[in-house]
Amino acid sequence: MEGVIEMLPKSLASLLGDNFYTVAAPAAAGLAAAYMLYSWRQGRDLPPGPVGLPVLGRLPWISRNQMHRSMMKICQQYGDISSFYLGSRLVIVVNSYPLMKEMLDSQMFSGRPQLRLFKKLTRGCGIIFTEGDVWNQQRRLSLRTLRDFGFARKRTVEMVDEQLDSMFNGFDEIAALYEPVQLLETFLLASNAIVAEMTLGQKFEADDPAMKLVNAIVKKLIEDGIIQGVEFLFPAMERLADLVPASSSLVSDTERLHDMIRGQIRKREAVMKDESVEPQCLCDAYIKEKRQAEKAGDFETFKEHQIIRVTMEFFLAGTDTTARSMEWLLLYMAFYPEVQDRVQNELDSVVGQSRRPRMQDRTELHYTSAVIDETYRKASLVGTGVFHRSVEDATFHGYRIPSDAIIIPLVYGVHHRAEYWERPNEFYPEHFLDDEGRYRSSPYLIPFLIGRRSCVGESLARMEIFLFFTAIMQRYRVRPEPEFAARKEEILAGSIGAFVFPGDYQVTMDRR
Ligand code: HEM
Repeated sequence: MEGVIEMLPKSLASLLGDNFYTVAAPAAAGLAAAYMLYSWRQGRDLPPGPVGLPVLGRLPWISRNQMHRSMMKICQQYGDISSFYLGSRLVIVVNSYPLMKEMLDSQMFSGRPQLRLFKKLTRGCGIIFTEGDVWNQQRRLSLRTLRDFGFARKRTVEMVDEQLDSMFNGFDEIAALYEPVQLLETFLLASNAIVAEMTLGQKFEADDPAMKLVNAIVKKLIEDGIIQGVEFLFPAMERLADLVPASSSLVSDTERLHDMIRGQIRKREAVMKDESVEPQCLCDAYIKEKRQAEKAGDFETFKEHQIIRVTMEFFLAGTDTTARSMEWLLLYMAFYPEVQDRVQNELDSVVGQSRRPRMQDRTELHYTSAVIDETYRKASLVGTGVFHRSVEDATFHGYRIPSDAIIIPLVYGVHHRAEYWERPNEFYPEHFLDDEGRYRSSPYLIPFLIGRRSCVGESLARMEIFLFFTAIMQRYRVRPEPEFAARKEEILAGSIGAFVFPGDYQVTMDRR
């Protein structure tokens, strides 16, 4: 108890003086009991989990840049479905494949955290942050147009090829100069260019103001995360987010980008006035749908801001993710030269050097396909998933899940469970090979998540990544810069922001 007196502010302690034991101690004990009773009542029937502090919840115990590992530890201690408070948010973490599948297939857990900042940016439009009918309609239409203009199109393969040409020019230059590089920028340029052409039907140069804005916005929203963080943790103080200086610039940057996209839509509308013109990009497809809907009296479903937001969200969800997956793949190759040897030998024997690899080669590139999947698993780019929200009070496996709880599908946990993987903590492409060395997929590999909200760009991303990776491996040897070679474990362990990033590194790219 004396320790408690020392912890009190001096003025308060001296004010109470000798009365401490008669006044303050029972009051403190009463408060503690009231808090425990409150926590107990709040926590009744919830999934098990650790108790936190008032206001902060478990925040002080969760490592900011190792959140995926902290959450996995909690689940290992309390169970495959655990709960605790982060700030004043109730969080439910799910760490097993069957439970995750059941949850993410259910409409009850298919919401998204409704942050004021996101509402301001989206005005209730788009896919990633919406719920209900708007989400349903936009998701269905975007899946259809992605099939028509994305992965199923010859033009997409050509776009990847064009990006490879300019990527190779850059790599050849640095190879000639023996210059070490970081790879992210190169892959960001390529994935941005593909999304831009697919959505807006336009090529952008790397230094185009629109591309610079896209990168700035993605960085603020995804890498910094701090803006949403304030409002996410303490919803009652949502206006605090406005005080984070980056918040207002994020809003104004987003508005500027919306204007640029609007300008491009107007150009496409002029082209599409001629009703015989076939849509060339996502934007055209929306314009066509809009025209049909308006003829039927529906002026809401395809209003201009929907087109703007869906385009914007393809940049948000589809560029950094693809680029970072490529970065992880090449890093694993640099640090596992014996695996790189086997990939290159397989490519030499199946494809040779006279042409670039094609999607059709995939069925024969067993080891290479296993390496790609093992990298998705081991890197677990979207380690803590994309958060969901329970849209109503629910009971799940006997536990109470109140409405508005945050659901965290712990992708990293599923990717590292000993029950699912022979060597969960090693980079082991054999996880995806059968006894005859043939590629076999695994249901426990969920980099794009599963269920009702799973990634709409999965097929496009898989295609881009396969074509980029195989073409680069066919032509270059990737090596860690000697200074970084000794830090393999630290670099590959990575840390988490919105995504799991590798540690600081440099590699060299040598022509084979
Ligand atoms: C390697 C690359 C990628 C990875 C690892 C990835 C991963 C994910 C994940 C984990 C989700 C969350 C699913 C959920 O909440 O249940 C997601 C959602 C989404 N992704 Fe991807 N993604 C990638 C590439 C792309 C691409 C290329 C596009 C589009 C061009 C895209 C568009 C979207 C959209 C629109 C959503 C929101 C879906 C919804 O809320 O219904 N993604 N992605």
